[in-house]
Amino acid sequence: MDVVREVEKILWPKPLKLFTAGPVACFPEVLEAMRMQMVSHRSREYQEIHRDTVLRLKAFLEAEKSVVLLIPSSGTGFMEASIRNAVSPRGKVLVTIIGEFGNRYREVVERNGRIPVVLEKPLGKPVLPEELDDALKKNPDVEAVTITHNETSTGVLNPLRELAKVAKERDKLVFVDAVSSMGAADIRVDEWKLDLVFTSSQKAFGIPPGLAMAAVSEEVFERAKKIPERGLYFDLLEIREFLEKQWSTPTTPPIPQIIGLNVILKVIERMGGKGVWLKMYAERAEKIRRGVLELGLQLFAEPGYYSPTITVVYNPPGVKGPVIYEEMRKRGIEIAKGYGRVKDVTFRIGHMGYITDRDIEELFKTLREVLVSLGCKIPGK
Ligand SMILES: Cc1ncc(COP(=O)(O)O)c(C=O)c1O
Repeated sequence: MDVVREVEKILWPKPLKLFTAGPVACFPEVLEAMRMQMVSHRSREYQEIHRDTVLRLKAFLEAEKSVVLLIPSSGTGFMEASIRNAVSPRGKVLVTIIGEFGNRYREVVERNGRIPVVLEKPLGKPVLPEELDDALKKNPDVEAVTITHNETSTGVLNPLRELAKVAKERDKLVFVDAVSSMGAADIRVDEWKLDLVFTSSQKAFGIPPGLAMAAVSEEVFERAKKIPERGLYFDLLEIREFLEKQWSTPTTPPIPQIIGLNVILKVIERMGGKGVWLKMYAERAEKIRRGVLELGLQLFAEPGYYSPTITVVYNPPGVKGPVIYEEMRKRGIEIAKGYGRVKDVTFRIGHMGYITDRDIEELFKTLREVLVSLGCKIPGK
């Protein structure tokens, strides 16, 4: 088909292995399933897939007490939804910031007319439970706490379980940006009492973008009932109503992505379940960090808080990250440039989605070649 080739020629003039921050390479089973002809989102057949996908994701997230929502949006939609639906107008929110995406949550709070109280850490560091406790002690009137589980700009994984415990002990709602962690790091929604935890499809589940997923607690819906102006598109009560009445969404869902999510959750099950899948992610991340250190490079994140999905690396002395990015790309590998305030001093290697051991070998062989070509000194050489 000529028209398809035309598009392909623009997007894929040559093959590239993706080590990106998202969108990431999708699993072959996902891409295959997403080619299916469309069905109506009001049909019985669609409802069966929506229902099955919700139930599978619920089990994966250990979220039996929560409502799992699948909506047409990117992850940021749920940031907005959490604030609009569950924080009173002019209400205060404790926003924890360890990088760019924490900052985005602050902006969402502000732009929706709520008041952010900020707990910010130096880049590369996580928020510690005692720091959160202290901030909550000083600000007893905040209604909710926001936590970036995995900060994609710095490669830091926050200690979510411990942070949520502190926030719940002080009776606050807990909103979790798990965009670059859900599917790769352990999240137990019921046990950790998370009120709204969300992600987008284009990250660790390895699906194309367009679908946002969240687990939402009963408490969030109760608060929503008391907030009159929740907007239309992200009205969580209406979204839940459609889920309960017809296993669908008020507006048209991204059907191919939901099919993709259904397929990847089945792939996970066939691989041996959540534990095996998360171990695969942990081992992959470990391999990437080892490879980086073997090249004499340094990691940006504080030890003990390394991300399972993205490794942020200091530029070698005298070399600019974007140059490494371009040189890698010329050789068939796409990594990610530094992001936000650390964009000039770091580059990033994403390790989400469909990546094989051979891809990782190729990544490091190429990175070594690039660094040597740029005059970097590699240990043992
Ligand atoms: C931690 C984090 N939060 C939020 C977002 C925004 O997600 P989306 O682009 O799906 O809205 C991203 C995207 O990279 C992210 O990494």
